Amino acid sequence: MIEDLWYKNAVIYNLSLATFMDSDGDGVGDFKGLQRRLDYLHGLGITCLWLGPFQTSPMKDDGYDVADYYNVDPRYGTLGDFVEFTHACKQHGIRVIIDLVVNHTSDQHPWFQAARKDPDSPYRDWYVWADRKPANADEGMVFPGVQKTTWTHDREAKAWYFHRFYKFQPDLNTSNPAVQAELLKIMGFWIQLGVSGFRMDAVPFIIATKGPDVTTPTEQFGMLRSFREFVQWRRGDALLLAEANILPEDDLEYFGHDGDRCHMMFNFQVNQHLFYALASADGGPLIDALLATKPRPHSGQWGSFLRNHDELDLGRLTEPQRQAVFDAFGPDKSMQLYDRGIRRRLAPMLNADRRRLELAYSLMFTLPGTPVIRYGDEIGMGDDLSLPERNCARTPMQWSDEPQAGFTKSDTPILPVISGGVFGYERVNAAAQRRDPESMLNWTERIIRMRKECPEIGWGDFRVLKTTCPEVLALRYDWRNNGVVVVHNLSDGPREITLDVDGEGETSRLVNLLSNDHSEPDSKGRHPMVLEAYGYRWFRVGGLDYLMKRSEAL
Ligand code: GLC
Repeated sequence: MIEDLWYKNAVIYNLSLATFMDSDGDGVGDFKGLQRRLDYLHGLGITCLWLGPFQTSPMKDDGYDVADYYNVDPRYGTLGDFVEFTHACKQHGIRVIIDLVVNHTSDQHPWFQAARKDPDSPYRDWYVWADRKPANADEGMVFPGVQKTTWTHDREAKAWYFHRFYKFQPDLNTSNPAVQAELLKIMGFWIQLGVSGFRMDAVPFIIATKGPDVTTPTEQFGMLRSFREFVQWRRGDALLLAEANILPEDDLEYFGHDGDRCHMMFNFQVNQHLFYALASADGGPLIDALLATKPRPHSGQWGSFLRNHDELDLGRLTEPQRQAVFDAFGPDKSMQLYDRGIRRRLAPMLNADRRRLELAYSLMFTLPGTPVIRYGDEIGMGDDLSLPERNCARTPMQWSDEPQAGFTKSDTPILPVISGGVFGYERVNAAAQRRDPESMLNWTERIIRMRKECPEIGWGDFRVLKTTCPEVLALRYDWRNNGVVVVHNLSDGPREITLDVDGEGETSRLVNLLSNDHSEPDSKGRHPMVLEAYGYRWFRVGGLDYLMKRSEAL
C-alpha cells in the first residue's frame, strides 16, 4: 500500500467550530473565524487540526447527530468556506482531519425520515428495527443516568429502532452493503475537499453486529480493512484515527496484525492509568498499561491525550483506582458523569497548579504516540459545571479580555463564556498569555517545538528504565542510533533517583533538552539526580555528537 506516515510525529489539535471563533457576530463560531486563527495555531506549532462534526445537524449532541453528511451546517458557513479553509490550512502546512460520525445519524436525517414513514422504503433497512420491544432494551446504554434505553418505539414506523447512544441518534445498519457503500462515498467526498483523514467516532459500535436478537455483538473487523483500503486508494497518506475504548488484547484486531486496518487509535488504556498515576503518584499501573499497549504494527500509532470533548472515562480502572481518581480530581458528584467519569477540564482538576499541569503535559507529549491537544488547554481554560453533561468543558475559547472573551461580538454566545474567578476570561486568555514569556501558552509552544525535535518518540521503540523510586517514571526511546530519555516525578515532594540509561557498553552523558542542567555519568555509568516535586526532564543520550548522528540518519 502507498503510505506516508506523517501522523507518527504530528501534533494534533482538536476543536469544535461552534465555540472557537465567531466571525459574523451570531454567537456561533464559524469557518471564517477559525481561518483567521490559523496563524495562532501555526504559531503554537500544531501540525494537524481535528475538527469536531460540522455537518448539518439539529445539534442535540454537539453535532454528533448528523442530518446531512454532504454539507456544512449553515451556522458554520458553506462548503465554499470549508474549501477556503482547507486551502488556507495547506498554506500553513497544517493538515485537517474531521470527525466521521457514521455509527448513527440524527433522527432528522432524510434517510431515517423515509425509513420510518414507509416499511417498503429502500432506507428502511438502513436502520435497525424490531417489531416488539427486544429483551435487552435496557442494556448497553453509553450514557447511563441520562439515556434510559437502547431501543425506542417509533409511532410512525410502528416498530422499535436501535440506538446505542441517545434516542435521537438511530443506529445505522452498518452491515447493510448499501450503507457501507454510502460510508465510503462520504469519506471520498471529504477527501476530495481536502481532508487528510478521519477521526472515526464509535468504531467498536460501527463494526458490531446489531439487531434485536444480538445478545453478544461480534465485531466485523473486515470492515476496517475496506475503509482503510478505500481512503488510501483515494489519497495515499489518508489517516483513520479510531475512537475505540477497548482492551489491550483487542488492539491488534483494530490496528490489523499486518497494519491494514486503523492507522491510529486513541490510547484510552494509557489515558486512564495516566490519570491514576497523577492522582496516586504510583507509576506502576501506568507502566503496565504502556507495556500492555506496546504491541502494534509498524505503521500503527497511538493518540496520546489528557482530556477531550467527552468526559474522562475511568471505566477501565479497578474500583479502588477509580475512587482514587475521583477523590483527587472530581470528588463532588456534580463533577462526575455517567457513573464512570469526570467531566471537568484539566486545569481545574489540577487546581490550576502550574507544576502539575506541566507534568501532565510533559507526560502526554512524551508517552509513546502522537499528542492530541484539546483547544483551550494550552492556556489552562476552566469549566462551567452549571452546564449540563459534557457541555461544561465545551465553553468558548478565551481569546482576550474583551467582552465575551473576544470570541464573538454577540451578547448571546452559543454557550456562556467563563467569566470571573480563577478561570474567567479576564484572567485566562490567549492575548495576555502571548505577551508573557512564562505563560502556559508559551510553555506549550516551547514543549511542542521540543517534541518535534524528538522524532524518536513518534518513531522509536521505548523501554521503561529502572529509577529506584516507584513515583518516578523514566522511559527511553531509541531510533536510528539516537536515544531520548524522559523522566517524570509524579510525587509532591523532591525525589532522589539513580538512573541507568545505557544500552550495553554505553556510558553516556545526558544532555538536558529543556535547561542547561546536563548529567554526567558516575563511575559506574549511572546518573544520580534529584527531581523537584512534580519535576520532569527530557534528555538526549550522548549529546555531543547527536546532531551529527541525526544528520546522517536523515
Ligand atoms: C462519541 C463522541 C461523543 C458522542 C458520541 C455519539 O463517543 O466522542 O461526543 O456523543 O460518540 O456520537
